Amino acid sequence: MCGIVGYIGHREAYPIIIKGLQRLEYRGYDSAGIAIYDGNSIKLSKTKGKVSDLKEKIENEISTDGTLGIGHTRWATHGEPNDVNSHPHYSNSGNLVIIHNGIIENYDSLKKELIARGYTFKSDTDTEVLVNLIEEVQKSNNLKLGKAVQIALNEVVGAYAIAVFDKNKPNEIVVAKLGSPLAIGVGEDEFFIASDASPFIEFTKNAIYLEDEQMAIIRRGKDIKIRKIKSDDLVAPYIQELQLNLEQIEKGGYEHFMLKEIYEQPRAILDTFRGRLLSNEAIIKMAGIEDNMKRFLAADRIIIVACGTSWHAGLVAEYIFEDLARIPVEVEYASEFRYRNPVISEKDVVIAISQSGETADTLAAIKLARSKGAFVFGVCNVVGSSIARETDAGAYTHAGPEIGVASTKAFTTQITVLTLIALRLARAKGTISSSEFRQHLIELETIPNKVEEALQSDEAIKVIADIYKDSKNCLYLGRGFNFPVALEGALKLKEISYIHAEGYPAAEMKHGPIALIDEQMPVVVIATKTEHYEKVVSNIQEIKSRKGKIIGIVTKGDVSVRELADHVIEVPDTLESLSPLLTTIPLQLLSYHIAVMLGKNVDQPRNLAKSVTVE
Ligand code: M6R
Repeated sequence: MCGIVGYIGHREAYPIIIKGLQRLEYRGYDSAGIAIYDGNSIKLSKTKGKVSDLKEKIENEISTDGTLGIGHTRWATHGEPNDVNSHPHYSNSGNLVIIHNGIIENYDSLKKELIARGYTFKSDTDTEVLVNLIEEVQKSNNLKLGKAVQIALNEVVGAYAIAVFDKNKPNEIVVAKLGSPLAIGVGEDEFFIASDASPFIEFTKNAIYLEDEQMAIIRRGKDIKIRKIKSDDLVAPYIQELQLNLEQIEKGGYEHFMLKEIYEQPRAILDTFRGRLLSNEAIIKMAGIEDNMKRFLAADRIIIVACGTSWHAGLVAEYIFEDLARIPVEVEYASEFRYRNPVISEKDVVIAISQSGETADTLAAIKLARSKGAFVFGVCNVVGSSIARETDAGAYTHAGPEIGVASTKAFTTQITVLTLIALRLARAKGTISSSEFRQHLIELETIPNKVEEALQSDEAIKVIADIYKDSKNCLYLGRGFNFPVALEGALKLKEISYIHAEGYPAAEMKHGPIALIDEQMPVVVIATKTEHYEKVVSNIQEIKSRKGKIIGIVTKGDVSVRELADHVIEVPDTLESLSPLLTTIPLQLLSYHIAVMLGKNVDQPRNLAKSVTVE
């Protein structure tokens, strides 16, 4: 996820763009850049770091005069965050300059074709490939920029919101969208371009939201032409009047970042497997795994190290790896592992999971494991983070920035990456058949839509939250793949509502926690249709006979639990190993609504930090 801004009109572009980038920094903040056309040439400046670093650099480096410009704040997906990989990117001739939010999945093959035609590349980005592809199409067919962009985009697989201009045609910006957001602000003889309306809300309330597979040619002082990328059909611009204020826009209209991030999960999970899961070809493509397959296949066991929510994702992975790939897995709190003098050998593979990539205990565990010769693989969200750099190889989750302190989309995207790895290894080891493998791929592809469906219980969950918001304690129970989900549900409730909550494997209840149950105790039971369903139903009966209040998370169409439970929340049916991706959703929403009803600071709970970089 990145932020893009552009301006073409009669005002100075620089102040609008730089302020717009600051407002979009929640979308990504590892590097930033700007390109302004000053009447003769393009002035471009970019840097690793925050928009404030860019501002300082620009003010010493380039003149900022000019009424046409584009800017970008980056959340790296291809290539580490550094000055060269920052946007904007020039084409080889230096005539075209582009900004891009998204992922071009087939950039590698396009790059090879362009190299064969003599193109050279300075950065590791997919975006530099795209701008050169546009240039190649433009030059070889002598086309206008708009047409060249259209043809080039028809060769591209992936997601994008782009803005590009040609220094030889400095009265025009071409924008296009597929899968990433793009808004156009329409003023008096001026146009604004941005990932959301926050950069232009003080200049105009009139906005056009481009639809997927649409592009627009925006001409200074003239009009805006929107057309479909695939068919050439013109589309009449639909200008809407914005009713939102600035804060609402940055949160996409959601009250809190946490809620926005909960709702982003269908897209985030899709982005996680985009370009990796190729169900038509029945393959999983992950460079970090392919390049190190021998190490994985030779491993006697996998040790997972992580903290908090990431540790819970590790526990889900333990079930998945052992079930699918038949590799023994040990899941360790990084903080314990690092001080326990653990037995580690060169045959061990260690997987370190971390959203931020900066958690001090996880970093220390990685260093310890590497010092003993283990191969360490990172699963991180933040590109170029310390953990991404300290590990031997890795895979990013591509969840986009997570601002709310309570992890939500980080968890589900971590599980998605770990599932892809387990499936890839299972295939290589032959521990699942090709039909089972294919079935998993097909089902995994349906998960974003199923998460969308699970989110539709939001209003019903709010009603349940209202009933239990004043509880002092809460129990969460789950079995198998969903035991870690019970732990995660309890953690979510604790950290944002400050209600005491415990997660347990459902069968453990009778070894102690059952003593806590009375009519005051809400018990959230994950009781989806799995191998252990009947046993979980028995656990529910045990709670019921002790007057506990049951909130059942069940598979759509469930009958048995519905008869026993006080409330049920349905999630769509899926494979058991993928069910945590769905059962987690209602638990996130339940905690969120309880915390909001209690008036807690949901995005910044007391005593907690987003990234724990100290011991
Ligand atoms: O950035 P990391 O994934 O390494 O962070 C680990 C934990 O600090 C984190 O998951 C924490 O538990 C969250 N607040 C949970 O919502």
